[in-house]
Amino acid sequence: MSLHYYCPICKHPLALNEKTLQCSNNHSFDFAKEGYVNLLPVQNKNSKDPGDSLEMVQARRSFLEQGYYGFLQTALANIVKPLNANLIIDLGCGEGFYTHAIADSTYGSVYGVDISKSAVKYAAKRYKQCQFSVASISQAPFDDHLADVLVSVFAPLFDNELARLIKDQGSLIVASPGPRHLKELKDYIYDTVNEHTEIATPAGFELVSKHLITEKVELVFSDVKNLIMMTPFAWKFRPEHWQALEKKQQHSVTLSFYVTRFTKTVL
Ligand SMILES: C[S@@+](CC[C@H](N)C(=O)[O-])C[C@H]1O[C@@H](n2cnc3c(N)ncnc32)[C@H](O)[C@@H]1O
Ligand SMILES: [Zn+2]
Repeated sequence: MSLHYYCPICKHPLALNEKTLQCSNNHSFDFAKEGYVNLLPVQNKNSKDPGDSLEMVQARRSFLEQGYYGFLQTALANIVKPLNANLIIDLGCGEGFYTHAIADSTYGSVYGVDISKSAVKYAAKRYKQCQFSVASISQAPFDDHLADVLVSVFAPLFDNELARLIKDQGSLIVASPGPRHLKELKDYIYDTVNEHTEIATPAGFELVSKHLITEKVELVFSDVKNLIMMTPFAWKFRPEHWQALEKKQQHSVTLSFYVTRFTKTVL
């Protein structure tokens, strides 16, 4: 098996030796029993447990398992498939919900990277068809110009790093919230809900295509709770909001996403 990781400390290639990755400077990283490798050096950690917490990870996993975001999963797999990529990296892959669907629709190698150990542990345990690592996507553990396709689903975008990792003619696929995404839930906490706008084209890339996909779903309280816990605005829900939500039998909620493809600008 050939892996394409680079040492996060000295940036030299890492070679696989049984269950350990090692560089020429003897920095070594063991694979965990779940099958992922931790490439986040202690000195690069800003907190003890960076990235999404176990609570957020579990909520997202429970919600995604219900299949409501299946149409986004399919849209991403369908956009990546015809690109015939040899190497794909999902940056900020979480529990691998989109990563594995992309891997199942292509022949290329698929890597998932996330700074949250809880998320990567789940991903690696479940989806053996992908390579998962705990690492920062602001300094991803890969060589320059390695990826044919980079994928980012609701994850932070680091423009310089995207431009460094992508091959010439490569594609960057970004999923971001559509204008009225979760509007009905935001109505509980905001007087005026600002609509999401399209993401700006990252430096060094050009826009190729943009699709807005939207579905309205009927959710029960337990799904709504998990969905809110996945969002950055979960903390704004106070006990009275939770009570109001729980009182309603069913919630009609808009799910809406931009799926945007960019390509590297070749100078
Ligand atoms: C909103 S979640 C999306 C997860 C996944 N793409 C999905 O949609 O199911 C954002 C993810 O980005 C990860 N993340 C945030 N900052 C990161 C960084 N600097 N490096 C790697 N991952 C990061 C978080 O841990 C989290 O799993
Ligand atoms: Zn090294």
